[in-house]
Amino acid sequence: MALLRVENVTKRFGGLEALKDVSFSLHDGQVKALIGPNGAGKTTLFNLISGIDRPTSGHVFFRDEDLGRLAPHMASRLGVGRTFQHSKVFDDMSVLDNVKVGRYGRSHAGVFSAFLTLPRHRREEKAISEASLRALRRVGLGDRAHESAGNLPVGDRHLLEIARSLASEPTVLLLDEPAAGLNNEETAQLAEIVRRVRDDGVTILLVEHDMGFVMDISDEVVVLDYGKKIAEGPPLMIRNDEEVIKAYLGEDL
Ligand SMILES: Nc1ncnc2c1ncn2[C@@H]1O[C@H](COP(=O)(O)OP(=O)(O)O)[C@@H](O)[C@H]1O
Ligand SMILES: [Mg+2]
Repeated sequence: MALLRVENVTKRFGGLEALKDVSFSLHDGQVKALIGPNGAGKTTLFNLISGIDRPTSGHVFFRDEDLGRLAPHMASRLGVGRTFQHSKVFDDMSVLDNVKVGRYGRSHAGVFSAFLTLPRHRREEKAISEASLRALRRVGLGDRAHESAGNLPVGDRHLLEIARSLASEPTVLLLDEPAAGLNNEETAQLAEIVRRVRDDGVTILLVEHDMGFVMDISDEVVVLDYGKKIAEGPPLMIRNDEEVIKAYLGEDL
């Protein structure tokens, strides 16, 4: 069974149809890419899948749960993690604290009561630190945990954000333009880490403009254009698809 099903999803913002009757599935253990020109609706779709917004019509199912019927925080509780298109790294906090910030969403004590020194909270604090360190090690940043995040080069900032999502142990990870602004070496390193995370059992849906990266890493690709799905299939098929090439005319595919 599919882990995630997007079924006939339409999303309107006033008169604008950002998504038009989009359907596709994400299977356990897949890396799937969502591509399309700017404004195609990729981030909008991510917002629906991560539960922070709802479809105007249609459904997003995570296993048997209709995410559009649940409170926004439930998607992450159920195991949908994400990174954002625009970096949310706090420069004057340590690398480790940047990861811990994400982890509190899942803890019982919560951010505020965690400041209390009750034994239960101290235990939880310790568990959060450990989960956060594990997540940093998974992306190769374990050694830099106690440095200021402001010191990290852009490639490592992206990895830090991935670690932050991993700390809450997601089943599905949504990555919004993880390779944006990275040089070739950083992109290759990112591909390696995404593969490793996938091999650890995390299913991945990523939005990305770097076609080399997409073709290299994806099992399947979904193409959006003006809110419509115009193609879906393995990378080689997508690369040779007439409609896809037309949508990207003038762009580098
Ligand atoms: N909150 C919003 N309110 C109004 N329009 C929006 C909103 N979010 C996105 N849009 C519009 O929806 C379309 C798709 O945007 P987006 O999903 O960000 O595209 P992509 O991520 O593929 O570049 C764009 O035309 C954008 O201007
Ligand atoms: Mg976007």
